[in-house]
Amino acid sequence: MPAAVLVGAQWGDEGKGKATDLLGGDVDYVVRYQGGNNAGHTVVIGDQKYALHLLPTGILSPEVVPVIGNGVVIDPGVLLSEIDGLAERGISAERLLISSNAHLIMPHHKALDKVTERYLGKAKIGTTGRGIGPAYGDKIARMGVRVQDLLDPGILAKKIEVALTEKNQVLTKVYNRRGIDPAAVLEEYLAYAERLKPHIADTSLVLAKALDEEKFVLLEGGQGTLLDIDHGTYPFVTSSSPTSGGACAGAGIPPNRLTKIIGILKAYTTRVGSGPFPTELTDEMGEWLRQTGGEYGVTTGRNRRCGWFDAVIARYATRINGVTDYFLTKLDVLSGLERIPVCVAYEVDGVRHDEIPMTQTDFHHAKPIYEEFPGWQEDITSAKSFDDLPPNAQAYVRTLEEMSGAPISAIGVGPGRDQTVVVRPLV
Ligand code: GDP
Ligand code: IMO
Ligand code: MG
Repeated sequence: MPAAVLVGAQWGDEGKGKATDLLGGDVDYVVRYQGGNNAGHTVVIGDQKYALHLLPTGILSPEVVPVIGNGVVIDPGVLLSEIDGLAERGISAERLLISSNAHLIMPHHKALDKVTERYLGKAKIGTTGRGIGPAYGDKIARMGVRVQDLLDPGILAKKIEVALTEKNQVLTKVYNRRGIDPAAVLEEYLAYAERLKPHIADTSLVLAKALDEEKFVLLEGGQGTLLDIDHGTYPFVTSSSPTSGGACAGAGIPPNRLTKIIGILKAYTTRVGSGPFPTELTDEMGEWLRQTGGEYGVTTGRNRRCGWFDAVIARYATRINGVTDYFLTKLDVLSGLERIPVCVAYEVDGVRHDEIPMTQTDFHHAKPIYEEFPGWQEDITSAKSFDDLPPNAQAYVRTLEEMSGAPISAIGVGPGRDQTVVVRPLV
């Protein structure tokens, strides 16, 4: 049986939470495969709003088994408070499975994330400050602490000791900060271990068996294609691989299990943090998009930078991920505009580029080449079918579909669970 990947096609915050939730009734497992609590996925069900950071969105569907895969970095304190917050609202996390191979975010990762950003000054990445980059750094340097280490207090103590012997030197001598007490960290993490133990599993094996038993597995990405460590706007990226290629490594299932790659694409573009963004609008139009679209970060509360739809990026996301279907979100936000510009290519130092330039230097200089399309004035938030959309909205969707190079199979017309026009089934 198949597995499907749901991946952000831009710089994150495309509406992955809503899209995952929509599929919750049709799938058996929802797996987060990378990132950590840098993610903020919003789901609106009736008058209830949920903001999920580490828990897979499937937690909100009672029949789904939510899984945190090996590719995720976990801040156990944050995870437990997220679980407790949902329990207060009557949602159980009892079914949650956590990969024994996932890495843990440790106190020194959070401390280092903050000091290194400060040290970079104007060149800062604008991270979420959650310790994501340093945790992945230690993973790759083979100095990380994993979830399974929580099951062996002797090993856990040793790993914390080894890590802090080095990191305390860096914190105190390079950054002039206070060192971290290994005994206190051990005590804190042993307490987390008690609560997390029942959830720890060989999730790769669980998913392989589930697939053999004809279950449907949905892999839920965090962040987005342009924030990918390899394929994004490096160094203004996150430290993991949100793209579909990263999904298999981060969930522990082989690529030949994947049958659908669903890209989530916003009807315009946003980005949080530093880095190039060719269609960014720094004028009142950008402010209008921010306010109309409610473009404020779910995790850090920062203003999201806003701009027009960038078809060069969408085409790139189609290519890098092998997108089979797009879920176009927030079309309703564009209602009321006379004309809607879409970036079709870039101009870099007098030369037209139909693809993302090869070098970051060129990408930083990219100026958008726009085509304009007629807008619509009608409120579309209660549209149920494609035919309910005004002709100009239909034409805008068809244009984006043609430019992106993959079919738009669902269209978001509002934040609610039921505010989606399904053109053809996604799974
Ligand atoms: P994610 O990180 O990709 O899950 O996206 P976020 O939750 O950070 O940001 C998306 C925001 O848009 C959330 O506030 C959603 O409730 C909202 N949203 C998602 N789809 C739609 C849509 O089709 N229309 C409108 N108006 N809002 C949407
Ligand atoms: P979701 O899953 C938007 C951005 C940060 C920063 C860069 C690196 O909600 O789409 P990090 O803390 O990961 O080292 O920060 O990545 N970033 C996101 N932007 N949505 C996200 O997640 C993001 N997660 C990280 O703003 O520019
Ligand atoms: Mg988000």
